[in-house]
Amino acid sequence: MTKKFYVTTAIIYVNALPHVGHAYEMIATDAIARYKRLTGHDVFFLTGTDENSLNAERKARSLGLPTQHYVDEMAATIKKVWRKLNISFDDFVRTTDERHRLACQEFFTRTYDAGDVYPSTYEGWYCVSCEAFYRAEELMDGMCPVHKTKPEWLKEKNYFFALSKYQDRLLQHIEANPDFIQPEARRNEILSFIRGGLQDFSISRSSVRWGIPVPIDPSQVLYVWFDALINYLTGVGWPTDLTRFQHYWPADVHIVGKDITRFHCVYWPAMLMSAGLPLPREVFGHGFVYLRGERMSKSLGTGVDPGAIVDDFGADSLRYYLLREVPFGRDGDFTWEGFVQRHNADLANDLGNLLNRTVSMVNRYFGGVVPTPIGAPTGPDAELMALAADTFAELERSMNALAFSDALVAIWQFVGRANKYVEESAPWVLAKSDRDRLASVLYNLVESLRLIAHAIYAFVPETAERAVEQLGIELEIGTNWGQTRQWGGYRPGTRVIEKPVPLFPKKELPS
Ligand code: MSP
Repeated sequence: MTKKFYVTTAIIYVNALPHVGHAYEMIATDAIARYKRLTGHDVFFLTGTDENSLNAERKARSLGLPTQHYVDEMAATIKKVWRKLNISFDDFVRTTDERHRLACQEFFTRTYDAGDVYPSTYEGWYCVSCEAFYRAEELMDGMCPVHKTKPEWLKEKNYFFALSKYQDRLLQHIEANPDFIQPEARRNEILSFIRGGLQDFSISRSSVRWGIPVPIDPSQVLYVWFDALINYLTGVGWPTDLTRFQHYWPADVHIVGKDITRFHCVYWPAMLMSAGLPLPREVFGHGFVYLRGERMSKSLGTGVDPGAIVDDFGADSLRYYLLREVPFGRDGDFTWEGFVQRHNADLANDLGNLLNRTVSMVNRYFGGVVPTPIGAPTGPDAELMALAADTFAELERSMNALAFSDALVAIWQFVGRANKYVEESAPWVLAKSDRDRLASVLYNLVESLRLIAHAIYAFVPETAERAVEQLGIELEIGTNWGQTRQWGGYRPGTRVIEKPVPLFPKKELPS
């Protein structure tokens, strides 16, 4: 039976266009979703937009646009950016969707009926960019610790959620489930935050009009984070399609940035406990991608535009670079030098040339038809085959740990070994002296490329497609992974493309 796998990203705010940091999260999650599909899972990949925020309303106002009109346009544009990056999401929840309003109101009612919601007065600081309440001691020199901007002082009558009631249950759950919060550093941060004592938090706003009305008091709207987290339920049909919901829920992993792990590892599980729903299996808090060591900021307009990179380099160069360069869970830096270097060295040279010369040689020496290997494998053949098996074992290990960069290092070691195999076998010499051996060498190279294409698919899907197309075959996605990954799947007698097309043109550093 196929196993279900439900994976989500954070839903992005719509007050500005996504930068490379946001793209990083989408790309990483897409790699997980594609890998799971490849290996035969029934995957549901959810993303969306967080539209009931004050920052969206203010941005619309500053542009003189009706808020709904503005969020409609932004959601459409953001979707286009993700499509350009080949993000294979299965559904896209907009928090202004009617289905989401229904889910939020039902959820609120459940927590209210559980006795976990009560009215009180909130007085304190609020950062609109974070959409978060801050205690005075959390501010840095009176400024928001994340945005370094002055928060607003609020005093309003709000509805509060009894978070403190869940402190012990949360601690027990995190302690009993070591994988619930990953990586380890995030888990420790959250544990010490909870041990420091949890305070109830406000889940409504009375001075805001843009948002989802509180069912028991339509003069208030739900606090945007309370509303946003519920998107993970909306996306799998809760509360109207319980069959679908029960099939996919709980989420197998929520992928979020390190700045919002607290919402996902403290507020969200407590909310779910209150509503009587199962908790997600894992929350992974990834690191940040910086630009010259600085935070990219949509509000400050500093950041690299992923859409422009795709126009110039293609989606896969960015996907490869970010997943290879920034170990998942840690912070990393986007540099143009590093990016262009990876594009030229790893993609254009190592991978691109391997495919190009293999396809050229099949055409030159065998009229474009891949020959049957002849005779027993030699030492280098056996080495290549053994490394192929090791590469898939490492791919499996690292993908289970969400260690994308480890997976890519292993795959590129195999690419490097295949390039070395060309040099040590010297097909151009064999062409004159030993056609049987030449047949085996070229078969082994084509087969290596078939395996490489499948191994890279999750990370650089377009490249994988283009590679197999040139080999005259198709990718096998989730049909029989156990067999697909075995050596020997390429059928001799298959015709490769007549004129190989370079996978990646070499690039100069943009000026
Ligand atoms: N709307 C909330 C999330 C609600 S989820 C129920 C939000 N939105 S965001 O637009 O600010 O961020 C979206 C995601 O991008 C978050 O996971 C955030 O951590 C991530 N990142 C934002 N900047 C980033 C980098 N520079 N690098 C990596 N990830 C980054 O938070």
